[in-house]
Amino acid sequence: MRMVNETWSMESITCPYHGWRWGKDGVLQSAQDAEVDFSQGNPCGALSLIELRCDRWGGFVGYTMDDDGPELRDYLAPMPALYRNHPMDAAVRVAWYRIKVDANWKFVTDNFSESYHTRTAHPQVPPWIDQDVDSGRHEMWPAGHGRTVQPMRPSLSDRPPEGVDHIFRHILSAWDIEPDAYETYEDFALQGWRDLKAAKQRLWKERGYLHYEHMSDEEITDSPHTVIFPNVTISFLPDNLIFFRSEPVKDEPEKCWFDLWCMAFPVEGQDEVESIMAGPKPLREAMACEHCDFDGGQGVPELAGQIVYQDMELAEKMQAGMHSRGYRDAHLSDQETRVRFFHKVLNDWIEGRKP
Ligand SMILES: [Fe+2]
Repeated sequence: MRMVNETWSMESITCPYHGWRWGKDGVLQSAQDAEVDFSQGNPCGALSLIELRCDRWGGFVGYTMDDDGPELRDYLAPMPALYRNHPMDAAVRVAWYRIKVDANWKFVTDNFSESYHTRTAHPQVPPWIDQDVDSGRHEMWPAGHGRTVQPMRPSLSDRPPEGVDHIFRHILSAWDIEPDAYETYEDFALQGWRDLKAAKQRLWKERGYLHYEHMSDEEITDSPHTVIFPNVTISFLPDNLIFFRSEPVKDEPEKCWFDLWCMAFPVEGQDEVESIMAGPKPLREAMACEHCDFDGGQGVPELAGQIVYQDMELAEKMQAGMHSRGYRDAHLSDQETRVRFFHKVLNDWIEGRKP
C-alpha cells in the first residue's frame, strides 16, 4: 500500500489501509488489535519499514533507491568541499514555497545555468551582482554539476542614471565605507568591492556575522550560483542560501513543481532578514510550506517583482515557445555553455552512458 503521496513533512506515517502507524525511525508504533490478535506476538516495536540508503549533507537529507549508486558525498562532489566554510545547518528557512509552474522541470536548471538573461529579465540585479561578460567564472564538473561565480558589486555596463539611489552605496555604508569617497564609478564598483572585503573581514565578529568565521574573501562578497545535477540549484550568498528544486508532475511533462526555500544565516541583533527572493522576512523558520499554482503570477502575488517570479513568468512563455514552428534549437553564447553541458550530461544518462 502506498502510504505517502506527496513530498511533505509529518510526525508519523499512517497506512490508509489498516491504520498501522509508523514512526519517523520506521518502527511500527501502533496497530489495531496489536496485543490481542497476533499469535506471532505484538508487532509494535518489532516491525520496521524497509530502510533505504540515505545520508545527510549541510542539513539536507539525500536518499536513493539504488543499492549500487554512489555515496551522497561522492555524488555531490566537489560541493561539500567547495562549501565547507558555509555553516549550512545554521541557516534558517524564512520562506518556503512549492509552486506548480506550466513548464517542464528542466526549466529550472536551464534558467539557473546562465546569467546571460539577467540584464534583460532582472534589471534590478546588475547594480548589485556584476553581470558583465568577463566578470563571471563558469565551472563544470563531469557529474553534471556546475556553477557561475559573480562578484557582488555593480556591473560597469549597466549604470543607473545619475541621481538614482544606488543599492551598493547602502551596502558600503553598512560596513563603514564612505561611498562618496570614490572619484569614479569604476572606483566605486571595483575598489569599493575590495574595500568591502577588507571591512567584512575586519568587522564580522563585532557585527555578529558569525557565519563569516571560516569564509574566504570570495565567499563574503561573491555569488556562486550552483547547480547540483540534475534539478537542484543553491545560491551560496554570503548571508543567504537560496535553494531551488524542480520535480516533474506525473504524466504532465509541461508542468513541474518548483520548490523555493529562502534561508538566512542568523546575525546577532537582527530579527528581520532580506530573503533575497521573497522580500524582507522575520528571522524565524517558516512554519508551513505555501503550496500554490503560479497561474501566470496570480497564485503568488506577494512575489511579484522578485527575481524568481520573473523567472517563472519566462519559463511559462518559453515552454509555449517550444511548440512554435519557428523553434529549432538554442543558439547559445559562451556564457551559456552550462546549458548545453546540462543537456549533454542528461542525454548521456538517458542513453545509458553514466558520467
Ligand atoms: Fe533568471
